[in-house]
Amino acid sequence: MAQIKILALGDVVGTQGCQYLSGGRLRRMRDTLGASFVIVNGENSAVGNALSPESAEMIFDAGADVITGGNHTFKKKQIYDYLDCHPYAIRPANYPANAPGDGWCIADCNGWRILVINLLGTTFMDSMDSPFKTVDRILEINRGKYDLSFVDIHAEATSEKLCLGRYLDGRVSAVFGTHTHVQTADAKVLPGGTGYITDLGMTGSAAGVLGVKTECIIHKFTVRTPIYFEPAEGDPHASGALFTVDTTTGLCTEAVGITF
Ligand SMILES: [Fe+2]
Repeated sequence: MAQIKILALGDVVGTQGCQYLSGGRLRRMRDTLGASFVIVNGENSAVGNALSPESAEMIFDAGADVITGGNHTFKKKQIYDYLDCHPYAIRPANYPANAPGDGWCIADCNGWRILVINLLGTTFMDSMDSPFKTVDRILEINRGKYDLSFVDIHAEATSEKLCLGRYLDGRVSAVFGTHTHVQTADAKVLPGGTGYITDLGMTGSAAGVLGVKTECIIHKFTVRTPIYFEPAEGDPHASGALFTVDTTTGLCTEAVGITF
């Protein structure tokens, strides 16, 4: 049975998150884990919660194969042209069709065709097309064009993420959640053979609250007036999940949470 390992990393937060993956650290982790392909959520990787061309390039240079997005992807206009020009930097597919960029891509990995789909949840989030109907449509139009398939569901509600995992069980290689920045302890292979984790967690400083300085968030909760979210500093880490996939079936044989 031929197997391939795919590493997915949670939301890269700010410069500290980008720098933590750089300098060879992500490439060393690829080697250590035996990961042939890396998917990174980058929607918070620019200063001020966004994806920028500069932060995307840092993540690609560090060793990512595909960058996924979320509700902050379009916050900086400089990213619009970049998304139109870079097929492996994707944004949620259930945005309106005239939004810049694409919501899915097919990337090569040693001859294997890997379909990566990015979706945005609709519970406690902006109103978008149904992620369930959207993923059905993308799988249908790409039928026969890919070998393995991964879905990043960028969503607030654990129920929406787990429900999508079960909805796609047996139809995709793995479903992983992003957005909450806290890694969940439920990495598993669902009964139909789809790898799953509710949230990958984040990449950046673990010293604050979800990558932001603690005092800013305390102000947010106790004073309720607007405040600039300064990035937290210190105690950097990266968290995500490693999926082992049987290339003959395209289904997952092992899913484990990873922090380094
Ligand atoms: Fe987000």
